[in-house]
Formats: sequence, structure tokens, C-alpha cells
Amino acid sequence: MQNMKSILPLYVKGKVVKGFGRGSKSLGIPTANYEQSVVDKLPDQLKAGIYFGWAKVGNQGVVEKCCLSLGWNPYFKNQVKSMETHIIHNYQEDFYGSILKVCVAGHIRDEQNFSSIDELKIAIENDIQFTLKELDKPEMLEYKNNNFFMTENGFA
Ligand SMILES: Cc1cc2nc3c(=O)[nH]c(=O)nc-3n(C[C@H](O)[C@H](O)[C@H](O)COP(=O)(O)O)c2cc1C
Repeated sequence: MQNMKSILPLYVKGKVVKGFGRGSKSLGIPTANYEQSVVDKLPDQLKAGIYFGWAKVGNQGVVEKCCLSLGWNPYFKNQVKSMETHIIHNYQEDFYGSILKVCVAGHIRDEQNFSSIDELKIAIENDIQFTLKELDKPEMLEYKNNNFFMTENGFA
């Protein structure tokens, strides 16, 4: 865990593509999926797991709180690694094709398998509550105000 701490905060930038579509349909928790090339370029030190951080969609967007899942989503038995970001904001429209900037700020837990979709949903709802609290800490607000969200720079 110590190694992982040293890689955070990690700033990631990339295009949003269509995911499997399970996010909003069966979970009621929409997630933005990065295109595969972005996921493949993530540093190895960033282990699979559930994280919290900040996210911004496009140039005009506002920096919002988010939590994300990096890995293989054991519940859905994915074959490829994915990075799926749930932005804690009620967007009126999809934003496939947009550039999404994410600051991965902290680790929440490892990916888990669940015996039902309801258990997965409860776990994600707990992640959201944890995220909301953690991001109010002053050091986390600094990440939100990082130049990364103002400029065209960023990893990937
Ligand atoms: C905060 C958060 C936590 C998650 N935790 C898990 C988990 O522990 N196990 C798992 O299999 N999937 C987990 N997921 C992944 C969801 O299964 C995934 O986002 C959902 O299937 C939507 O994917 P899709 O829109 O690409 O279909 C998590 C997702 C988020 C946003």
C-alpha cells in the first residue's frame, strides 16, 4: 500500500468511450469508460482497486467529485482491464467522445466479487459516501485546484 501512496495523486486524461452499458441500466450508477489505450498506458504501480478523486469533462466543465474502479470488475468477469469513473454529478446528457480529466487522489478498497447486484450497489453507495467526506479535506481541495484542470497537460 505504501508504494501505491507514492504514485498518488495521479493525473489522467483521455477520451470517453461507450462501456458495456451495465452502469446505468442495472446499477443506476453511470460510469464513464476510458478508451483502452489510456488504460494500457496507466503506470503499473497504480494497482487495480477502487479510488476517489476529482474529474472534469471537456474544457468547459466543472471539476466534480468522483470515484472510480480500475481493474476487471470481478462481478461482471471482464476480460480486459478498464477504468470506469462515476462522477458525482447529475449530467443531463452522455459525453461519449469527450475528454475526461481525472485526478486519482486516494485508494478506497480492493475490487470485490459479490453474490448479487444489490450487494455491489450497496458497496458503491458506501464508496460514494466515503468519497464525499474524504474530498472535503484541505489537502484534497488542493488537488482540485491543480493547474492540470486548467491547462491541456496531463498523463496519457
Ligand atoms: C466506485 C465504484 C466501485 C466499484 N466496485 C466494484 C467492485 O467491487 N466489484 C466489481 O465487480 N465491480 C465494481 N465496480 C464496477 C462496476 O461493476 C461497473 O462500473 C459497472 O459494471 C458499469 O460498467 P459498464 O458501464 O462499463 O457496463 C465499481 C464501480 C465503481 C464506480
